[in-house]
Amino acid sequence: MLKTAPFPEALRKIASDYGTPTYVYFEQTVLDRINSLKTHLAGLPLQLLYAMKANHAVPIMERMKKEGLGIDAVSPAELLLALKLGFPTEKILFSANNMTDHEMHFAIQQGVILNVGELSRLEKLGKAYPGTSVCVRLNPQIGAGHHKHVITAGTESKFGIPVEQIEEIHAISKKYDLHIQGLHQHIGSGILDTDTLWKAISVMLNASISFERLEFINMGGGLGIPYKANETGIPMDEFESKIVTPLKRFIADHPSDGLHIWFEPGRYFTAECGVLLATVNTLKETEHITFAGVDSGMNHLIRPAMYGAFHEVVNLTNPDGELKPYDVVGNICESADFFARGRLIQELREGDVVAVLDAGAYGMSMANMYNLRSLPAEIFVPADSQIPHAFRSRKTAEQLVDAELLNV
Ligand code: LLP
Repeated sequence: MLKTAPFPEALRKIASDYGTPTYVYFEQTVLDRINSLKTHLAGLPLQLLYAMKANHAVPIMERMKKEGLGIDAVSPAELLLALKLGFPTEKILFSANNMTDHEMHFAIQQGVILNVGELSRLEKLGKAYPGTSVCVRLNPQIGAGHHKHVITAGTESKFGIPVEQIEEIHAISKKYDLHIQGLHQHIGSGILDTDTLWKAISVMLNASISFERLEFINMGGGLGIPYKANETGIPMDEFESKIVTPLKRFIADHPSDGLHIWFEPGRYFTAECGVLLATVNTLKETEHITFAGVDSGMNHLIRPAMYGAFHEVVNLTNPDGELKPYDVVGNICESADFFARGRLIQELREGDVVAVLDAGAYGMSMANMYNLRSLPAEIFVPADSQIPHAFRSRKTAEQLVDAELLNV
């Protein structure tokens, strides 16, 4: 069974009006995911953040703000974008990895919350800003994720301060009178296993007892979604019983008063809202494989090449075609440039438009201009009017070349 494309009529019209390659984001899906997570977390003193690295499209960010979400920002430009869009500083966590002095000063000047994942940075922060408040990212030494590249905790991970070094955190904060206002962890991405998630959370919760003036504990993001028709994503009933219920009990007895629980997903909110549209321009039959070459590639959606990630590919313009096996490949000069291999898809003909599904997270935000090809166009479909709004256009070869020559 194949997954079906969301709003196929709208997608066909967008492909015909705006051409391809194009990312399309449906706001209604974002809203549904936000509301669903709020429901599953009901009863917790909660603050949701959005990990904008998943997709920083401005209309999506604006919706996040309207829904009261804060932001997990990891670079000065992400931070600046969140500030310019009006997210309140007390809801912005700045989690730059291997933060520089310049980034530290910049974030402090903006008045957002710094999330520090290295003892040496904590020391530098203390020296420069004694008495300041800060969040500390811990490595609970338990990681998880859909691929080893996206596991962000454990003994081999560069992220966070190893939980065994908690005494050093206390010593540095005492030395500089730092107020640890929050603890944070993020153990990986695309997690489907609630037991592992809870184990890691428990490590952080146990560590948190030694902090008496905490304002929040941030569980990170990482919630997986169903990329295949037969998948369910992270099981939310288990998430409630194994994580949310024990969390409620835990914070009721915590030495810090008024403690809030933060989560900061990216993928869960946006993956399913996004579709990458591409046009089949070349069919090539070899002895064993039928290649369908499209006008997009790994430069636009790198997840299959980078993680072997699965994205359903659907033929929008021949939806009732007979299912046949294809390798759907891009136009980039790399053999890792594929969207699907040996995949059953409704018969593809040259000129057909395909939809690469669940591409709303880590699609455009990881896209690049390799081979000096343009980024795709981006289109936002608002939940109320449903009238597509094109907020980024593709660049012509002339525009790309002009931009290169300007930089000389
Ligand atoms: N918080 C922090 C500190 C993170 O580093 C991340 C993601 C998130 C939250 C959000 O994680 P999510 O809820 O989206 O799983 N490019 C990979 C995913 C890398 C995630 C990096 N950090 C992919 O396409 O699967």
